Amino acid sequence: VIRYTDDLSEVRPDMLRGFFVGWPRHPSPAQHLAVLRGSYRAVIALDDTADADLIAGFVTMISDGVLTAFIPWLEVLPGYQDQGIGTELMRRVLAGTERFYSVDLVCDAELVPYYKRFGMLGTSGAVLRRPEALEKDTPL
Ligand SMILES: CC(C)(COP(=O)(O)OP(=O)(O)OC[C@H]1O[C@@H](n2cnc3c(N)ncnc32)[C@H](O)[C@@H]1OP(=O)(O)O)[C@@H](O)C(=O)NCCC(=O)NCCS
Repeated sequence: VIRYTDDLSEVRPDMLRGFFVGWPRHPSPAQHLAVLRGSYRAVIALDDTADADLIAGFVTMISDGVLTAFIPWLEVLPGYQDQGIGTELMRRVLAGTERFYSVDLVCDAELVPYYKRFGMLGTSGAVLRRPEALEKDTPL
């Protein structure tokens, strides 16, 4: 019942419910949709069965289109996890990036083994975070 697509033309903000689990402050659905549309590439996993017109997972990639790419967001809704959806989203977003020198992402240390499945390497990094950039939203 899960359909994967990079076509965002039919996506509405209300289909982006329930993401950013555990975030004290998180993007509004409208800001979330703008992130998807502004990305170099975005893939969504749609559950469009009659009673559940929603997005079960998404991944985004930003890139210079020449040598480097970054994967800022990957999330699968709790009720849809452990069914291979994250794996398929990663597979699809990485497809065609073989010419890039680097494809990077930042994750918790416990998730490094997960990303090693896609040929990625654990490393260290440094980040800037500005929670005030996230639009305030009603609780999930
Ligand atoms: C991480 C995430 C995207 C994986 O998506 P998914 O559809 O559940 O993953 P898959 O079904 O493809 O793979 C499941 C595997 O991931 C592992 N996994 C999931 N979350 C994990 C975590 N936090 N730490 C370690 N392993 C994790 C599972 O143990 C499982 O391993 P197995 O195949 O050996 O049983 C999903 O759990 C999620 O959205 N988590 C919350 C948000 C998040 O952490 N996003 C990543 C930001 S870098």
